[in-house]
Amino acid sequence: MKETVLSGIRPTGNLHLGNYFGALRNFIKMQYEHQCFFFIADLHSLTTHPKPDDFHGNVRRVLAEYLAAGLDPEVATIFVQSDIPEVSELYVLLNMLAYKGELERTASFKEKVRKQEDNVNAGLLTYPVLMAADILIHRPTKVPVGKDQEQHLEMTRVLARRFNNLYGQEIFPEPTAFNFGSDLLKIPGLDGSGKMGKSEGNGIFLADDEKTIHKKVMRAVTGSGPTEPNSAMPESIQNIFTLLRVVSTPDTVQYFLDKYNDCSIRYGDLKKQLAEDIYKLTLPIRERIEAISADNDYLHRITKHGAEKARESAQATLKLVRGAVGIKRF
Ligand code: TRP
Repeated sequence: MKETVLSGIRPTGNLHLGNYFGALRNFIKMQYEHQCFFFIADLHSLTTHPKPDDFHGNVRRVLAEYLAAGLDPEVATIFVQSDIPEVSELYVLLNMLAYKGELERTASFKEKVRKQEDNVNAGLLTYPVLMAADILIHRPTKVPVGKDQEQHLEMTRVLARRFNNLYGQEIFPEPTAFNFGSDLLKIPGLDGSGKMGKSEGNGIFLADDEKTIHKKVMRAVTGSGPTEPNSAMPESIQNIFTLLRVVSTPDTVQYFLDKYNDCSIRYGDLKKQLAEDIYKLTLPIRERIEAISADNDYLHRITKHGAEKARESAQATLKLVRGAVGIKRF
């Protein structure tokens, strides 16, 4: 069944291989199978008071990276949250239905209170309401979310239900999580720790150049051995092979597996191959990131096009919402 899918992208950090082989590749595939909305959640990032230049720069960088990786503005609706004023209006209306107690109990809010105790603003408290407005304004059925966002999606369903009940109209469908299942590859970090992330020395970014990739990979944790043929693999070596499997050919993987199993493997060679194959895979993306970032006309054109499509959908919802609430023009 063709679903309406919506996903919000936080404008922070650079995309790394973990993002790419995780959600991003699924987004790229999904855009051809469903009606997709992707947007940069720039208003959300104001809760931490970024400098105005950083604020815009972050939107530009993240947008360029997603486009370079393969999100297609001719196929999906790709836009910037702050270009859609209808979202802010729905946010106001939904705030009237959100209770202080339930917002205070949200895990993400409690964490922020702990982390930035000198800036506990109302935007932080109502972060899930703004997210609900992002979602409900397009009335999607599916929202791909990670574990950390499940509670927010639940809050979205609560607000949708509460609105529908209060006004006696089925305006909002209750969206559920889009689960990628086994298509969501988990990419290990280079520091031997579980997952690839943003931290120094752990992740490889799509924007990294050849030297940086090489340096990071050569520093990856491996250890020594094995000394017995066909030994079990320690986790750090398994991690290198997991990375090799996603970026190299099956022949290359087999070549190094055989070398591992007959104890002749040299980890320097393995990592050199891995670095080279990561470089080959990411080079075209990096070139596109650079080209798109420098092309303001293109970014202007596609965000304008995206905003037009998104506003059409948002205005249709808002018309129903205003009608239900009883907002009428004289
Ligand atoms: N809160 C999400 C995050 O931190 C980003 C986001 C904002 C979002 N609005 C959204 C995600 C709507 C999905 C749908 O990752």
